Amino acid sequence: MTGLGAHFPSCRLSTATDDLQDVSTRIEKSGDRVYNPGSTQRPKQKEHLKAKFRQHVNPLSDAYQTPISLAPRWIEEAFEKPSQKIVVDVGCAKGTWILQNAEANPDTNYLGLEIRRPVVEYCIERAKRWELTNAHFFATNANIDLPIIMTDLLERGVCIDMVTIHHPDPHFKKRHKKRRVVTDELVEEIANIVPLGCRIFLQSDIEDVCHNMANSFLRNAKYQPAHGYDSSRLGDNASPHSVMTEREIATLNKGLPVFRMMVERA
Ligand SMILES: C[S@@+](CC[C@H](N)C(=O)[O-])C[C@H]1O[C@@H](n2cnc3c(N)ncnc32)[C@H](O)[C@@H]1O
Repeated sequence: MTGLGAHFPSCRLSTATDDLQDVSTRIEKSGDRVYNPGSTQRPKQKEHLKAKFRQHVNPLSDAYQTPISLAPRWIEEAFEKPSQKIVVDVGCAKGTWILQNAEANPDTNYLGLEIRRPVVEYCIERAKRWELTNAHFFATNANIDLPIIMTDLLERGVCIDMVTIHHPDPHFKKRHKKRRVVTDELVEEIANIVPLGCRIFLQSDIEDVCHNMANSFLRNAKYQPAHGYDSSRLGDNASPHSVMTEREIATLNKGLPVFRMMVERA
């Protein structure tokens, strides 16, 4: 793993005492999908998953507007096998979903993007504790940096297996709409970068949020529903992953539905 400094230009950092009310870390199973955000056998040392960080930051604030500057050898430093296919998870929070997938799928690299730097530092510490060489995290505003990161990966010949956007902050209020992660501009930018067939998986516990994300992609002629996914039945679409995210678990624990859609570059 590379040093933090390479990926965190100081102008982009949020201040230190971020706190987050993330969900608890229960260990459960449902069907064949594993619900273990706190991990089962792990950690080797006890993890403090209830660590608190600031819950929200404003992605439109000046602190998050400077585009990421990627070190020339970031990918070699981040991953033991840099040429493996990669999954990019937008808004990864404490990174549990990334770590569990990375452990289960050593032939895939996992890159988590999270806007809150203290949370990313925590994720990187966790990846080290888990002794994973196929998981890495960037402190980044995905609205600005996702196209930059994806372009860089593709220029290096890395296959982007999937981009996942799980439970992005809803920003319900109309005046906060511009803070949403999935915007028409981001959708168009990604379309102009990725190869045909590149898949984007969208998930939320709020139907409107999932609907808006799916619509942003599908009203753009460069995307189509992925095979087996129906944009008019978001509550019935399945996840392609065997691991659940923390928010997904918390939602299902409350007996509430999760809405999903997968699109692909057409
Ligand atoms: C509700 S949490 C969901 C976490 C996780 N994906 C899950 O499903 O459990 C949304 C996360 O997205 C992050 N986030 C929000 N806007 C972001 C942005 N523009 N770029 C990167 N991360 C962002 C938040 O800080 C937060 O950690």
